[in-house]
Amino acid sequence: MIEELIARAARDLINSQYAIALTGAGISTESGIPDFRGPSGIWTKNPEAERRAYRSYERFKSDPKGWWLERLTTPSLLGDLEQAQPNAGHYALAELERLGILKCVITQNVDGLHEKAGAGKLLEYHGSILKLRCISCNSRFSHHEFDLQKLMEEDALPPHCPKCDGIVKTDGVAFGEPIPGDVAHNSLEEAWRCDIMLICGTSAVVFPFANLPRTARERKIERERRTDTGLYAVEKVPAVTIIEVNAEPTPLTDEGISDYLIQGKTGEVLPAIVEQVKKLRM
Ligand code: APR
Ligand code: ZN
Repeated sequence: MIEELIARAARDLINSQYAIALTGAGISTESGIPDFRGPSGIWTKNPEAERRAYRSYERFKSDPKGWWLERLTTPSLLGDLEQAQPNAGHYALAELERLGILKCVITQNVDGLHEKAGAGKLLEYHGSILKLRCISCNSRFSHHEFDLQKLMEEDALPPHCPKCDGIVKTDGVAFGEPIPGDVAHNSLEEAWRCDIMLICGTSAVVFPFANLPRTARERKIERERRTDTGLYAVEKVPAVTIIEVNAEPTPLTDEGISDYLIQGKTGEVLPAIVEQVKKLRM
């Protein structure tokens, strides 16, 4: 059964013109980073932390200095991301890109692991925890461009943008914070352009990211078919095949937004798909 779905996904990818991947926290659990809503997710185990996360952006806007002080003195719920390494799932997507099949990865993850795995065209929809961003001009900076510890010791927080003097925040997008315009626009373009959407390791309940599959599902193409009477008819058919790889069904599965779900671990299923792609291409 799962082997058939893996072979089907490999065929769909090989026959695609413009395949993209969407990923969530589930692709990084095999790298030791907890997800949020899975059985041992951060929010599942700590609902209070989720409530605090929902207040974070308002807190940043009203007290950026206090927000930064807390940020620099409290360990991240995701653990030490600087040390985290990609797993076979991240590498499989990078390989599909090298094979010329995958054109883009759009991730909700802020852990930087797709980049570490060698992803080429990558859109970090919720930003990256390893980067900083000016909330006025949207310029992004690596962590190393600011000595945050020194700013804290000198009581000079929050950091300010060297370009426009705006306030600088971590690049990670908080609940209620607008998705940066460039990433939101480019992601929508990819979702509207693709003919295969491979969705990996997400519960697909967080918007606006969860709109991307729905946008892709709306796109139709015209196809001619011969009717019983032998005449030709033009019909509108879905332009995109949507494949989910996830440990459990999601609203995309239940609502029939996705065409099929391969239920399993991304670190096992995605390398198996790559292997099949290589076999079929031989
Ligand atoms: N392989 C496949 N699926 C997995 C694996 C795995 N190794 N590990 C976990 N999963 C599944 C879980 O069962 C769950 O369905 O991945 C999904 C992860 O869903 P969430 O924890 O909700 O993560 P995500 O969808 O990325 O969350 C979206 O919510 O909290 C915010 O900003 C945060 O970007 C995040 C957003
Ligand atoms: Zn700026």
